Amino acid sequence: MSRFSEPQDPAFQALNASIGFDRRLWPHDVAQSRAHARMLAARGIIAAVDRDALLAGLDAVEAELAGGTFPFEPGDEDIHMAVERRLTEIAGPVGGRLHTARSRNDQVATDVAMFTREAAERAEARVEDLMRALLDAAERHLDWAMPGYTHLQRAQPVYLSHHLLAYVWMLARDRERLRFTAGQAARLPLGAGALAGVNFDTDRGMVAAELGFSGVAPNSIDAVSNRDFVLDYLAAAATCATHLSRLGAELVLWSSEEFGFVELPDAWSSGSSIMPQKKNPDAAELLRAKAPRIVGHLAALHGVMHALPLTYNKDMQEDKEHLFDAVDTLELALAAATGMVAGARFRRERLAAAASDELIAATDLADLLVRRGVPFRQCHGIVAGLVREAVDSGRRLSDFTEQELRAHSEHLDGEVADVLQQRSWLESKVSEGGTALPRVREQLSAARALVP
Ligand code: ARG
Repeated sequence: MSRFSEPQDPAFQALNASIGFDRRLWPHDVAQSRAHARMLAARGIIAAVDRDALLAGLDAVEAELAGGTFPFEPGDEDIHMAVERRLTEIAGPVGGRLHTARSRNDQVATDVAMFTREAAERAEARVEDLMRALLDAAERHLDWAMPGYTHLQRAQPVYLSHHLLAYVWMLARDRERLRFTAGQAARLPLGAGALAGVNFDTDRGMVAAELGFSGVAPNSIDAVSNRDFVLDYLAAAATCATHLSRLGAELVLWSSEEFGFVELPDAWSSGSSIMPQKKNPDAAELLRAKAPRIVGHLAALHGVMHALPLTYNKDMQEDKEHLFDAVDTLELALAAATGMVAGARFRRERLAAAASDELIAATDLADLLVRRGVPFRQCHGIVAGLVREAVDSGRRLSDFTEQELRAHSEHLDGEVADVLQQRSWLESKVSEGGTALPRVREQLSAARALVP
């Protein structure tokens, strides 16, 4: 019997069906169905023989899904209905007992929570791989000088190791966000039924334990309405991808002949179909471009969830494509970033030449005057005048005679020459978190401890 007298419009079926994408939830759907069947029997809600028949049937369904031989049918609206349909074909009418004390509402929330927890844990591991690749690169380039930039203008010299370590700290925060996400996805929705709980004295804790949840969602209404963990994943992924886009952007710039700071590994570069000399940083460019895609998924799901009345609404079926694409995109981006960092060949001379631009010691000259008692604002003006004269006359600061220096300030003397030694600009940055080598070493070992 059906409540309906007319068949569904094919366009409605196409709109309504999620089987095209939610089939990838099958491992979780089968796992939760097993746990559910065991619990139903343990509580005397179904007979032990029925449980055994359901478990055997689920094994057969799982084998078909894993082997790619599962016979999907046009009428399968989603993975939950497809599995139950096939189970009933294989096991007989007992298949109809599996949905006792369960609704697709708590079922889908459970599948998505399991998927999200696994994805967050996987991303965490890949973030750690990238952190390790960056740490290794930092160690290999510990004392390689390079210009640090603001506004993409040479600002102050730093060590390449210091610059690479900046990404490690970003990724450490990403990892924390992903961990938080995994924790948020670890409270079992199943057992909430459609929304109000079920008419049986189930054991939700037993199901939670079997499926690796840390506990049960305490409110059945919240349990079937909640997709916060998906938003949490998307937010964590969006921020992480944004970090990777900044790395990608730097690799694009640095691998250009104009910068010439790095050569990217062949395995992560491509040629041009017309210009034989070219080696294009496509992977780094795509790192740049993938971030807004994930941010788009986050914004889209906020749009779906906002103002949605409790509890389950079909709108929430839209969570999956955003989540799946974000997961696939982030994992690829992390793999690409790790491969590029691990194989990047930095060019010491080019970095050093750019870092030997004396003008980037301007702050250090100003600080020399500060140490001689001149207020910093005034020092800034004095050095600006000096820089201007150098730029206008096409000379280096170290070409200025002591007399010429004194014309700018009585406090400028022979020590200016010492300040203009490249090492000294770097090694004078002694503050905690600064670029002086002892500080970078300190930072490196602290960062290493994050990924033992
Ligand atoms: N395919 C649905 C989804 O992804 C499953 C839940 C359907 N529940 C319902 N009451 N129609 O959200």
